[in-house]
Amino acid sequence: METAQIKTKILFNKKLKNNYWRLEFESSVIAKTAMPGQFVEIKVSDGTDPLLRRPISIHGVSKQRIRLIYEVIGPGTQLLSGRKAGDFLDVIGPLGNGFKYGRITKKYDKRENILVAGGMGVAPLVFLAEKIKLNKPLVLIGARKKDQILCLSEFKALGCKAIIATDDGSLGFKGKVTELLKEILSKKSQADKSVSIYACGPQPMLKAVALFSCANDIASQLSLERHMACGFGACLGCVVHTKEGYKRVCKDGPVFSGKELTW
Ligand SMILES: Cc1cc2nc3c(=O)[nH]c(=O)nc-3n(C[C@H](O)[C@H](O)[C@H](O)COP(=O)(O)OP(=O)(O)OC[C@H]3O[C@@H](n4cnc5c(N)ncnc54)[C@H](O)[C@@H]3O)c2cc1C
Ligand code: FES
Repeated sequence: METAQIKTKILFNKKLKNNYWRLEFESSVIAKTAMPGQFVEIKVSDGTDPLLRRPISIHGVSKQRIRLIYEVIGPGTQLLSGRKAGDFLDVIGPLGNGFKYGRITKKYDKRENILVAGGMGVAPLVFLAEKIKLNKPLVLIGARKKDQILCLSEFKALGCKAIIATDDGSLGFKGKVTELLKEILSKKSQADKSVSIYACGPQPMLKAVALFSCANDIASQLSLERHMACGFGACLGCVVHTKEGYKRVCKDGPVFSGKELTW
């Protein structure tokens, strides 16, 4: 895998809604090898503060254009939202392993793929949906409330069936997206349960997906988030405990199978 450090001009950096932003830049190197689930590390300011880069998932790639979406939640993402189109951005990527998925053609791969997104977890799953769209994945999008639901139109434009879950019931299923997942899978017969689950979202959501999928012998891949320092495996600042010992989320992940993680 080719990882590059590039300085590139921001092409687009605008608010989508609330605290959610979309940023685009051009990079032929990243575009050439980027896989869904991989991320980039961004130097959010021109100076040394903050020192650490911020990891953001690759949300989409069109030709040489890389798309990201991010939520402004602290000083790093606040600074990023202040960068303008035309400013130079220092980016390292693509980083991490990404999701594993089969070659999807019209004749191949009859598995049912279910994508489970919590909040900003939609970010890498849109890129994955684009790659496996011939399989017509089912997408479950969860958020606390209606106005935090993201990317519904992007999933629909890719031909995915998307179902919403909100904690407060302001849109779609009332409850956690993991409860929606359990409800959908409980209606299937054992033979129908040959599904693959791909999930990204908050830690409690991923834990629930992993425990449920393991208990029901369903394959799952989860994209984890950890605070990162180096972002490429050198500092051990992002380790997670697995059945095979500690692994680095930035280098060995961020995508892990539900079976390998311990909680
Ligand atoms: C592989 C990976 C992919 C990511 N993809 C995206 C993405 O596509 N879009 C997006 O908006 N965000 C994404 N994130 C999270 C993003 O990196 C953080 O939100 C960002 O670094 C916060 O920086 P900040 O300085 O604005 O806030 P900080 O001041 O660093 O943090 C604000 C709050 O968020 C918590 N927090 C920050 N980073 C993390 C983290 N990595 N894990 C858990 N809690 C954290 C802090 O504890 C604090 O409470 C990703 C993280 C990882 C590891
Ligand atoms: S952030 Fe340094 S090893 Fe992962």
